[in-house]
Amino acid sequence: MNNFTFYSPTYFVFGKDEENNTGKYVRRFGGTKVLIHFGGGSVVRSGLLDRVKASLEAEGIAWAELGGVKPNPRSGLVYEGIELCRKENVDFILAVGGGSTIDSAKAIAAGVLYDGDFWDYYCGKPVEKALPVATVLTIAAAGSEGSDGSVITKEEGMLKRAASGDVMRPVFSILNPALTQTLPAFQTAAGITDIMAHLFERYFTNTKDVEVTDRVIEGLLMTMIHEAPRVIADPDDYQARANIMWAGMMAHNDCCGVGREQDWASHNIEHELSALYDCAHGAGLAVVFPAWMEYNMEHDVMRFAQVANRVWGCPMDFAHPEVTAKAGITAFRNFLRSIGMPQTLAEVGGKEEDIPYLAHTACYGNGNSGTQGGFVVLQEEDVANIYRLML
Ligand code: NZQ
Ligand code: ZN
Repeated sequence: MNNFTFYSPTYFVFGKDEENNTGKYVRRFGGTKVLIHFGGGSVVRSGLLDRVKASLEAEGIAWAELGGVKPNPRSGLVYEGIELCRKENVDFILAVGGGSTIDSAKAIAAGVLYDGDFWDYYCGKPVEKALPVATVLTIAAAGSEGSDGSVITKEEGMLKRAASGDVMRPVFSILNPALTQTLPAFQTAAGITDIMAHLFERYFTNTKDVEVTDRVIEGLLMTMIHEAPRVIADPDDYQARANIMWAGMMAHNDCCGVGREQDWASHNIEHELSALYDCAHGAGLAVVFPAWMEYNMEHDVMRFAQVANRVWGCPMDFAHPEVTAKAGITAFRNFLRSIGMPQTLAEVGGKEEDIPYLAHTACYGNGNSGTQGGFVVLQEEDVANIYRLML
């Protein structure tokens, strides 16, 4: 295991009706003037926004509001949010929604305290200062409720890029699984896929002797495989939703990624798809990850065989571990199909003729170093080959 530091200061409040305590927690964490940030309207229709406002009112906390965050959140609204916060003297950002809303809130929080263009943070500058951010989460997926990251798309050039810094970890996050019961089945499934992808990005490592994090990841993957069919069959299954929601947090606050090299090529290869075709991030990952696995299996066939055996229950063929490894990838594909996720580039809007652009941008766009991935270092041609496997 490698040396590491781990700082995860988020105060988690989990369970039914907890959104009604939002005001109390804003007060505890020092907010006096809040920007309530939300998406395209699901929180208005469900009545959640009104309940959150009532809880702020009960504590005498003032707010401004900014809705309209789109999935794959855009820089335009971030600039608007920064201006609004400065004008209204906002000292606390409250995201009510999913990963896109939370990421937009984090970008505003960092941008308000920065004299330059907030996009600098999405070109590699570490985020060292930000207003406090808190979340009321409505979808188990991105893990932004506990993570140090934010992903924003710049309209000019449709570049989708990430920023990170511990100061962007939410000060508190309210996780009520019942709030996810209104999700369309497709969004539930895309969220499940993203959670599993966060686990695989960490599982595929060259670091030896990481039994503790291997086993935590395997347990979380098995939880997703167990709970996903339950929640697809019955969207109101609170207990299945609860297990998925907490797994989503654990998959991405990095408790199971510490002390080991990680990969992240699949995420960056996917970000080009959601930037160009505006597909759901999880749906893009359903197409990318099995292709990435197939392309890179030879790099460490025993690691692929291990996950196939321990997580998917494929019999271990010690004489031919590649058989076990392949069976695991097939099991993953079948699972994704069973929850309604796409399988091909075309299904997320992709076109074969875009592949050279996609591969080039994934490797070189916006100051990228020219390669992708930590487990296997991919060149532009490898990335193009992985896109071709999705056809
Ligand atoms: O905008 P509204 O109307 O709220 O509708 C949303 C949106 O259309 C809807 N939705 C959310 N909760 C709902 C609901 N509809 C009904 N009932 C509810 N309870 O679902 C749609 C998707 O929402 P979004 O916030 O985009 O989903 P998600 O949480 O999957 O976030 C995706 C974004 O997170 C980024 C992705 O790249 C993508 O841009 N990621 C962020 C990460 C991070 N910050 O650490 C890591 C991830 O790997 C990921 O890259
Ligand atoms: Zn993700």
